[in-house]
Amino acid sequence: MIPKETIDEIFNASIIEDVIGEFVTLKKRGANYLGNCPFHNEKTPSFTVSPAKGIYKCFGCGKAGNSVNFIMEHEHYSYPEALRFLANKYNIEIEEEEQTDEQIQTANEKESLYIVSNFAANYFVDQLHNSDRGKAIALSYFTERGFTEATINKFQLGYNPDEWTAFTNEAENSGYDIKYLEKTGLTIVKEDKKFDRFKGRVMFPIHNLSGRVLGFGGRILSSNDKKAAKYVNSPESEIYSKSNVLYGIYFAKKSITQENNCYLVEGYTDVISLSQASIENVVASSGTSLTEGQIKLIKRYTPNITILYDGDAAGLKASFRGIDMILKEEMNVRIVLFPEGEDPDSFAKKSSTEELKNYITDNAEDFIQFKTHVLLKEAGNDPIKKAELIKDIVESISIIPDQIKRAIYTKECSTLLEIPEQALINETNKFLRKKVATRHNLPDQLADEIFHPILEEKKGSGNEALEYWESEIIRLLITYALQPIKTKVISSENKEIEKDISVATYIIHSINNDEITFVNPIFQRIFNLYAEGIKENNGPTQQEITQHSDNEISQVAINLLSNKYELSSNWAKMHKTFVVTEDQQLGMAVINSVSAFKLCKIDHVLLNMQQLLKEAENDDEITKILEDLMRFQKIKSLISEKLGRVILK
Ligand code: CTP
Ligand code: MN
Repeated sequence: MIPKETIDEIFNASIIEDVIGEFVTLKKRGANYLGNCPFHNEKTPSFTVSPAKGIYKCFGCGKAGNSVNFIMEHEHYSYPEALRFLANKYNIEIEEEEQTDEQIQTANEKESLYIVSNFAANYFVDQLHNSDRGKAIALSYFTERGFTEATINKFQLGYNPDEWTAFTNEAENSGYDIKYLEKTGLTIVKEDKKFDRFKGRVMFPIHNLSGRVLGFGGRILSSNDKKAAKYVNSPESEIYSKSNVLYGIYFAKKSITQENNCYLVEGYTDVISLSQASIENVVASSGTSLTEGQIKLIKRYTPNITILYDGDAAGLKASFRGIDMILKEEMNVRIVLFPEGEDPDSFAKKSSTEELKNYITDNAEDFIQFKTHVLLKEAGNDPIKKAELIKDIVESISIIPDQIKRAIYTKECSTLLEIPEQALINETNKFLRKKVATRHNLPDQLADEIFHPILEEKKGSGNEALEYWESEIIRLLITYALQPIKTKVISSENKEIEKDISVATYIIHSINNDEITFVNPIFQRIFNLYAEGIKENNGPTQQEITQHSDNEISQVAINLLSNKYELSSNWAKMHKTFVVTEDQQLGMAVINSVSAFKLCKIDHVLLNMQQLLKEAENDDEITKILEDLMRFQKIKSLISEKLGRVILK
């Protein structure tokens, strides 16, 4: 834990153009700086840095943030990691808050496992390059496979000598505790015997996101020993959790961001060969079936995954599960199938980089095309099998959370399988309803009735409108907090008078008076900051919000500040709000937005009540809900009536 004062100090010390200038070439343009965006490929610079506001914003890809956000995004650091980075840059000492003994011990234990693993990696590298057997057997093996010296060094490939305890002895003689050798699995301890797990194997170290070695894969050299496993891997340990690790991610992450796509392959050598062929955005699940944790890891860098499959058809159907998992994570997935008998490694070896790249582009299919091809081959002309196939594909479509994407895929599927679109939509909705019903423990029938409207296009009175107005209120607060606007105010003698008050005062009072809360918790927190400030007669400054140590707050604020105000917003139109250019008519804009927000909030409550009414089970319940409904209708007309007025208590 970094103390709050230190966080503030780091924020204050960080000069945005200085922080970003370390990674991006910036040119001065008026009050701002301009450069090529490091988060997407671009030829004309659209990445701007504002020293005054302390924020950056790319008008190409929309990324925006403060100094800490930049380091997090660019270096893929967590929040505390980014703070440490900046503290180090500006020579700010971080005094950690005290840790418990237990915390210290687990931290130490983990650290010890990392240190032992690092020692092992170095030892294996040394053996590969400097021992006679290493050079003669292992290094020549890699060279014969076509790996260049640069590749071998980059991936820290190594060799564990073919003796029972070569590594273990070396490690113990160098003072490493057998406890950690055993915990990392580098040494297998059985009763009073111990021996090297990776005896006689070439070594592929597995790195975490920041490049530290967590574990290893060891490949056998001889092909005549049919009984021994081709690969032996480190067991799970406190630092190595297989389901949350991807081989190659450390080397790939930068390229994944830049290409906005991640290639997913099966094996260590596939990653290495593609990388050598300058396709660097590639990772491997290393033989295990893809997990949610691994998908989430990729999602940190890109929403796009392209799976590269070996040619053997047996594994293809097993791949469907992985595809569905990717879809569920709201990611896009494409699939490339390699020719029979080839894996990406062998294909890369046979072809030039250009041929390889062309093959991938020409053969990438989206999951509908891919599933259809695989399943059609299997079903042939059998109508029953074909019907099952359609269900199978539709089920995948129903997993996609985004409605628009679902519609696009449905259309494609309809064309590809020659099925009327409406039939597919009905089928998708069945799956959706089933899911809703299971989630709420409802019988299917009831779920059908209650949730049918939800499956229809939302018509704007739902959450989106409310979200829009919430964000609009917060945006006005952050942008204009202290500017005065003219309002009609009810004085203590109950007279209506005109008065200049600040935007923040108006918004806070009119929302607090009606005890309205925000659905979005971050908006609520920002609102509270202003409400506190108003009490003491000084709201937070714009900088205090955009550089707030609560990263969620600063990020939201920056996004709101840097997004252009869209006058033509559909929500504004729909609610027949009077739209004006806000700089000219600030008062009007603020007052209208607050009213629209309130009305929307009430509509939302009313909608929920109607829903409750549908589900109500007895007369008492129904009566109570009806009473509430009427009460809220009344409030609604009251709000409409006193539109534009504020009561100052
Ligand atoms: N694997 C494993 N244990 C095995 C076999 C395979 O852990 N006994 C994992 C490894 O991570 C391997 C991946 O599954 O990289 C894919 O296996 P395979 O295609 O058989 O190996 P390749 O990566 O093609 O290795 P090579 O080219 O060296 O044969
Ligand atoms: Mn292979």
